[in-house]
Amino acid sequence: MRFNFGSATLAALALLAVVTAAPAEIAERQSTVKIMALGDSITGSPGCWRAYLWQKLQQAGIKNTDFVGTLPAQGCGFQYDGENEGHGGFLAINIADQNQLPGWLSSTKPDIVMMHLGTNDVWNNRSPAEITTAFSKLVDQMRASKSSMKILVAKIIPMNPPNCGECGARVVALNSVIDSWAAGKNSSSSPITVVDTWTGFDTATMTGDGVHPNDVGNKKLAETWFAPLASAIQS
Ligand SMILES: *[C@@H]1O[C@H](CO)[C@@H](O)[C@H](O)[C@H]1NC(C)=O
Repeated sequence: MRFNFGSATLAALALLAVVTAAPAEIAERQSTVKIMALGDSITGSPGCWRAYLWQKLQQAGIKNTDFVGTLPAQGCGFQYDGENEGHGGFLAINIADQNQLPGWLSSTKPDIVMMHLGTNDVWNNRSPAEITTAFSKLVDQMRASKSSMKILVAKIIPMNPPNCGECGARVVALNSVIDSWAAGKNSSSSPITVVDTWTGFDTATMTGDGVHPNDVGNKKLAETWFAPLASAIQS
């Protein structure tokens, strides 16, 4: 159905909207911060660290958030705001090469992107240089969506899958170039914050399969993301 309102009607409707919303409600609506968690299965399937992270934000009184993404929340045992962009099996390199991110961004319009990507790239033996080249393209696409995008980039969690004895060292090699890559790509209008999810994460006790966080690992990841995300929301 299509309505054609005259401008006087629209002005009257706008006025009505203003006078019927309580001031606190207006303030809350204006300050809602949209957050996109971008990644692979560690982030999306089911990615319950995001549920614990949302819970921690709530407990800290940080409620002006809207987690966005084209993928729905999966069950984590309690209600949480769980839309996300965690695509199981995806490589950063393929997301960049296939220009998948711009569509996700235009559908959801985040203010903050928190990215944990590279695990599948490493698994497929892609080099740190190839991976950070892809990261650079993704950052450019984030800034094309919003010039003041706040970007949190993970040094990814360790991995030790049975089929890849070298993967642990490859993750270390990728993580070792993240700081300098991020500094080179940084800008004051669209700051990049590196979040070290590797340190203190133990694949033996925090994953079931050497790759995907178990409940202990999800709580650890939520803990690690909390302070940098809270700071990005509030700055
Ligand atoms: C990027 O710049 C901001 C200040 O604008 C700074 O806080 C942040 O640490 C910088 N990030 C990197 C990776 O250098």
